[in-house]
Amino acid sequence: MSYRAEYEGWKSDPEGYWLKQAQAIDWVEPPATALFDRGNDFYEWFADARVNTCWNAVDRHVERGRADQVAIIHDSPITGTQSKTTYAELKGQVASLAGALLAQGVATGDRVIIYMPMVSEALVAMLACARIGAVHSVVFGGFAANELAVRIDDCTPKAIIAASCGLEPGRVVAYKPLLDGAIEMADHKPDVCVILQRDQHPCDLTDRDVDWHACQEGVKPAECVPVAGNHPAYILYTSGTTGAPKGVVRPTAGHLVALNWTMKNIYQVDPGEVFWAASDVGWVVGHSYICYAPLIHGNTTIVFEGKPVGTPDAGTFWRVIAEHDVKSFFTAPTAIRAVKREDPKGLERQKYDLSGLRALYLAGERADPDTIEWAQDILGVPVYDHWWQTETGFTIAGNPAGLEALPVKIGSPTVAMPGFDVQILDEAAHPVAAGELGAIAIKLPLPPGTLPTLWNADDRFRKSYLTTFPGYYETGDAGMMDEDGYLYIMARTDDVINVAGHRLSTGAMEEVLAGHADVAECAVVGVTDALKGQSPVGLLCLTNGVNRPHDEIVAECVKRVRDQIGPVAAFKQAVVVDRLPKTRSGKILRGTVVKIADSEAFKMPATIDDPAILDEIKVALQTIGYAKD
Ligand code: COA
Ligand code: AMP
Repeated sequence: MSYRAEYEGWKSDPEGYWLKQAQAIDWVEPPATALFDRGNDFYEWFADARVNTCWNAVDRHVERGRADQVAIIHDSPITGTQSKTTYAELKGQVASLAGALLAQGVATGDRVIIYMPMVSEALVAMLACARIGAVHSVVFGGFAANELAVRIDDCTPKAIIAASCGLEPGRVVAYKPLLDGAIEMADHKPDVCVILQRDQHPCDLTDRDVDWHACQEGVKPAECVPVAGNHPAYILYTSGTTGAPKGVVRPTAGHLVALNWTMKNIYQVDPGEVFWAASDVGWVVGHSYICYAPLIHGNTTIVFEGKPVGTPDAGTFWRVIAEHDVKSFFTAPTAIRAVKREDPKGLERQKYDLSGLRALYLAGERADPDTIEWAQDILGVPVYDHWWQTETGFTIAGNPAGLEALPVKIGSPTVAMPGFDVQILDEAAHPVAAGELGAIAIKLPLPPGTLPTLWNADDRFRKSYLTTFPGYYETGDAGMMDEDGYLYIMARTDDVINVAGHRLSTGAMEEVLAGHADVAECAVVGVTDALKGQSPVGLLCLTNGVNRPHDEIVAECVKRVRDQIGPVAAFKQAVVVDRLPKTRSGKILRGTVVKIADSEAFKMPATIDDPAILDEIKVALQTIGYAKD
């Protein structure tokens, strides 16, 4: 089947197309109707079906000959350990934890926050929730207690499942103080916290806590609980323009159908093969491609606890691919840039037999041509950029290599996938001509698996995505489409920045900086960074009369962002200026600052960590009259 035929097949009968794809899923009650129009541009898929995600990701494979196949490989260069879990073992572990959650009073529909590092138990926790129809919300370990507290208050979890610690190179991240601090800060209090003790840093338990293993003793393993097709499988918070994160809701049935489709058609793997996404369970890539999609499809997935470089060297990725016979590998461009910087000639790669690898898939941020070409050269396999978002949960535009490998045009994530009618619009919501820049929007309805709304925030959902271009979903990205239908993603149209493949809100950082007593006004902009894609830089206007050393204030601001948002914000640079470049109506000209920082004249240094760049930004602002000293 050609891509074009598949895409046209979808377009001519979207509901029939997705009902056909739904046949690959085990239903308790199959969907009779595909699409439900709820009015006001809200849609749901397969709402009349009954299904269980855990059954599809685990039990059915045990029943159908994959009991002894490895489901999860845990490979942790940080601890120097590896372990393998078969589908049969996974079923036992998940059913047991799910039974313990039931015994602790967690029922179908209750929310459970999961705050775990890259250990296989993180997947066990997600699947245990899915088994009993509890709605999990995984929070990334690099966020501070305050961010965790915001999520606790928004989704009001009955339980929290956490580990005692995470491990960053050379640093133990003690989760328990962060967890306790967050619960202290939050208005809502969970009934129970299930704590997985890790040998590297066990913690003390309080009255609210139960031990992961102890709470499972003598408890009856839980069976899969069927839920309605539109039951939320999970909530995943992501950054928007303001400081309050958006709770993206993932609907159960559509998620199963869509993710299953992607494994062969995009990622080219057959059941039984090893698939690896080097990301983190805290991000959407981790949800979809470390946990759910590979397991739903009967693949072996890898939970990797390490970094592309330094754990122990720039050959780690290639070692994992060779050792576990990975067929398709998915990571963020920033990770490849980190490897390239450390080992530009690809000498580490020469040490490993990568003949089993079919392709490298990149997403999460713009893939720059240098990185793609370098990876193609050293790996000798196609490198496929693909574009998607937390909101969609799977590829909007990609190269459907398992269906038909389309020619790669470097700089483009290729073409729209079935389900997505992507249009480039001008301000009046009219499609622009091929090759012209505009806002990227998707004609409603979005396909199965994409967000039907935001958690407890229908109005915010409408306002954020549905109002600018009536009848369309606004992606927040700008770009263009060429004559062949290839998309080019150029920039965000909002205040979201992308740092090392992590989506962050400059608005959230500004709120934290504005809370500093000496800061009268501030702006945070993302400037180009050779390693991380973008890096946040703060511009601070001080309150009249403040004459403390600027270095001191900057250091306090950096600490505030780290303490209140977390190390993941990677906020390390700020500069004091006299005033901010603004329009007449008072809107900060972020674009101007970014342009100054990124301009050729500055011959961008290797990374934003170079202090020279800050001086240059300041000098440039002085030249145009915004900063004096
Ligand atoms: N728990 C606690 N802290 C974390 C963390 C976690 N799970 N993940 C990152 N951090 C910390 C880092 O230790 C770092 O702290 P530091 O300021 O004390 O050094 C800080 O957050 C910033 O992290 P990051 O921006 O990731 O920078 P880095 O220098 O640690 O690593 C890369 C840079 C490129 C190697 C790394 O970002 C990477 O491997 N990215 C892969 C991309 C990826 O996973 N993308 C997800 C979407 S696909
Ligand atoms: P997230 O929700 O964290 O996955 O971030 C989604 C955003 O990351 C998108 O809206 C884009 O701005 C950016 N992004 C993701 N993939 C790509 C890509 N392949 N090319 C360019 N930008 C991308």
